[in-house]
Amino acid sequence: MGSRSMSVDAASRAAQATRVPAATGDGGVADEPVADPVDGSSGPHLHHLLGIDDLGGAAGIEEVMRLTGSFLEVSERRIPKVPALRGKTVASLFYEDSTRTRLSFETAAKRLSADIMSFNVSNSSVRKGESLRDTALTIEAMGVDAIVVRHSSSGAPHRVAGWVEASVVNAGDGWHEHPTQALLDCYTARQRLGSLSGRHVVIVGDVKHSRVARSDMLAFTALGAEVTLVAPPTLLPPSLAGWPARVSHDLDDVLPGADVVYLLRMQRERMSEALIPSLREYTAGYGLTVARSRLMRADAIVMHPGPMNRGVEIAPEVADLPQSTIVDQVRNGVAVRMAVLYLLLGAGLDMVPT
Ligand code: CP
Repeated sequence: MGSRSMSVDAASRAAQATRVPAATGDGGVADEPVADPVDGSSGPHLHHLLGIDDLGGAAGIEEVMRLTGSFLEVSERRIPKVPALRGKTVASLFYEDSTRTRLSFETAAKRLSADIMSFNVSNSSVRKGESLRDTALTIEAMGVDAIVVRHSSSGAPHRVAGWVEASVVNAGDGWHEHPTQALLDCYTARQRLGSLSGRHVVIVGDVKHSRVARSDMLAFTALGAEVTLVAPPTLLPPSLAGWPARVSHDLDDVLPGADVVYLLRMQRERMSEALIPSLREYTAGYGLTVARSRLMRADAIVMHPGPMNRGVEIAPEVADLPQSTIVDQVRNGVAVRMAVLYLLLGAGLDMVPT
């Protein structure tokens, strides 16, 4: 699974060296060369973002973090827009429901001055039986530079990437990966905690069905954090071979040592069998209740990708604590997706102050 992102050769990279908006403190835009996400040289490299490994480890993730900081500054301007992707078109191809990811990709594209082509399965020719391949080729034929794909099948964005010339971004595929969620999670955790090196990230809940858990584990460990997965045995994958994480079934035991408590949504739509006796028993063992949150250190943070099942994996009062980063995650999601679209499409475009 997971095609490696396409690279261009060094000469081409040098020839196409690009500029990015950097925070100037005065509302303007300063030009800075983009470091190659993989080898540190200047210029474009990434063609698709299908999984965290496409970023080539810590250096690539750090590059997204650096760009995110610049685009957050853009987002705070009176007119939060730069012309970086003027003339480019970004299509969103969502076969599964979404609020945060879809809206933030579309907002990100607009803030970069790209055009948006929005596709809704529920009122499209998919309902007449059109295949994923034919749908992707149809969209590409209209002239798009990037396609943002969400699908309930693991690997669907990888298939699309094999059919089209456009860049493809995985916006969540089945139980597999959700790379931009992990990037915004890392950015947000670092905003609160500083360096993630040596930090203890505890990911709690429905790991088995969670693309977020997989991408987060890869991204957090790439940045030097240690990850512990906490779940009942039925909500863990059959094999965790190769997963760089410890496993626990006792949330109360690990909470005092956590820097980040990351709660996963109970994905009832993906459960085809009874994996837990009841939601009430799940909450009793694995929910971050008010009483259980008191086991956390005062400086630890609470994260959730949304949408939340308040009262199931997280108590409503805990979701609204100052230690909760849930709103920050959404806010940072726009800037992270600007960074990703910029890395994929932004090569060689002039950055002009708006
Ligand atoms: N976190 C996340 O992917 O949310 P949406 O399903 O609303 O996009």
